[in-house]
Amino acid sequence: MSDAKISVSKKAIGHIEKKLTKDMVLGIGTGSTVNFFISELAKYKGHFYGAVSSSEASTKLLEEIGIDVFSLNDINEVAYYIDGADEVSPENYLIKGGGGAHTREKIIASASNKFICIVDKSKLVKKLGEFPLPVEVIPESRSLVARKITSLGGTPIYRKGFTTDQGNQILDVKDIDISQPESLEALINNIPGVVDNGIFAFNKPELVLVSD
Ligand code: A5P
Repeated sequence: MSDAKISVSKKAIGHIEKKLTKDMVLGIGTGSTVNFFISELAKYKGHFYGAVSSSEASTKLLEEIGIDVFSLNDINEVAYYIDGADEVSPENYLIKGGGGAHTREKIIASASNKFICIVDKSKLVKKLGEFPLPVEVIPESRSLVARKITSLGGTPIYRKGFTTDQGNQILDVKDIDISQPESLEALINNIPGVVDNGIFAFNKPELVLVSD
């Protein structure tokens, strides 16, 4: 599996390396695939300005290799956002958030000019939903949101012992029908107390790179 993640990371580097400029900011996702991408990116650290990061974990790795990490509030343009996924549909809709970082990931994806998703073949699915859908919730609303999600046909499971970088909690939702990703993304996000859910339909990637 590591070989596949390294191979797709190299593909992503191949896609952006000639387009890097000294004033360019890259958006960096979270997860084991992106960790390999960050290692590959180390060779190019003088070729671009810096990064915005979707998690404390990725920030740490970027800073360790000498890449400057900025707050999105201080950046006008994110040229590319590179991130993995938990599932990718034939239409390039995604489920993300296995690592609980999907809220910030979606924010940076939406801020970027081009979202490049990097995955190994195991992430490609005919239909989204085998992977439980992560929903970040404000802690005080967790039970309320869980009941509302149950009424939508899902089975929410509290991710015990896990806190997001924003200090919130995660419900992992099984058995929910994701045949209409845009409407379900909006419906879940409309429940009071939900911060964001892991469906990337409105912010799907412009390009999905798959390992050979
Ligand atoms: C992090 O919250 C997720 O959205 C990751 O992008 C996703 O889980 C992919 O991670 P891996 O590359 O570790 O499979």
